[in-house]
Amino acid sequence: MSSVIHPQARMSLNQLELPGPIKKMYYTENTYKFDLSNSTNPYGGSYAEYPFLNSLDLRKVYLETISDTNAIFYPKVKFPKVDLNQLLFTVGSIEGIDLVLRAFCEPHKDAICTLDPTFPAYVHWAKIHGLSVKSVPMRGENFEYIDHQEVVKANPKILFICNPNNPTGTVIQNETIVKLCQSIQGLVVVDEAYIEFADQPSILQYLPSVKNLIILRTLSKAWGMAGLRCGIVLADPKVIETLRYIQIPFGLSMPSQKLVKKRLQNPHKIIDSWQKIKKERDNLFFALSQMNSIRKIYKSSANFIFMRLNDHMRYMSALQKADIYVADCSHVLPDSIKVSISTPKAHREFIKALSGSPL
Ligand SMILES: Cc1ncc(COP(=O)(O)O)c(C=O)c1O
Repeated sequence: MSSVIHPQARMSLNQLELPGPIKKMYYTENTYKFDLSNSTNPYGGSYAEYPFLNSLDLRKVYLETISDTNAIFYPKVKFPKVDLNQLLFTVGSIEGIDLVLRAFCEPHKDAICTLDPTFPAYVHWAKIHGLSVKSVPMRGENFEYIDHQEVVKANPKILFICNPNNPTGTVIQNETIVKLCQSIQGLVVVDEAYIEFADQPSILQYLPSVKNLIILRTLSKAWGMAGLRCGIVLADPKVIETLRYIQIPFGLSMPSQKLVKKRLQNPHKIIDSWQKIKKERDNLFFALSQMNSIRKIYKSSANFIFMRLNDHMRYMSALQKADIYVADCSHVLPDSIKVSISTPKAHREFIKALSGSPL
């Protein structure tokens, strides 16, 4: 197997070579006076050239920003210095999920493991790639405990842990996840799409010592840039190098990169909004816990609240009539919905729609 490819990668990757420019551009920016390699139109204007692929500059900016953010929220935690070759930008973190499956799993042979209920995309993509799925149910009244033995027994090639979890909003302690990483041979993907809303730091602390840990982050949620489609994979350099072999080149467009950089360099307004969203989450939780239409509501460490309704059909149609769209999660847990934390006005309308008495 090629020395740059991860030893657990899919066998067929061993036969691949990275095309020259793609290989080079991860380590250096393109600084040629004339780049005559790409057959682009010189009269095309600002976006005539291909974007920098996993731009060194943007990677530096991202790592500086998350390091500053970690220092603001967790001044006592010692986070490691993340190297530039431990980071890969993706087209949303959804691409990160697909890349990891494609890079490391053999179709019709390997299995992944999910801790359910969780984000259905892991299973969706695993099936597309011909993988089997071992579902280990989360234990506890609020789905807060992992059945460690069951996960070890499942022996997955990849274990997906969504932390905080979508749709339940529950959070698992990083130390519990690290123990799992140490107990299985496969890779552990920790999807931290909502980590900024949790009262727990990122598992990034453990990245240097836990080699089978892969962290997925996104700028779609707390960072408010879903439309720009920017996700991040943080992992051991060998994992990152392997993902680069199979990533569709130039996915993160030039306008996206520019706008992402701008927000990351001026993050204060968006960071301030996280406190506001957490406060609104607590207000909405309190208001909903008083309501007859709700059978159970789950404490959330994310920017949404998961709940089970007393009369799902009736209240879903009440919400529809009020022109309010929420995530119907009854496919993962009967009668459940997930509602995003939004503005006080949107919450008032949502509460009003759920306030009618059942028929
Ligand atoms: C847990 C989780 N991971 C990943 C994603 C994908 O996010 P994106 O592709 O926008 O980065 C989502 C989106 O809903 C999510 O809830």
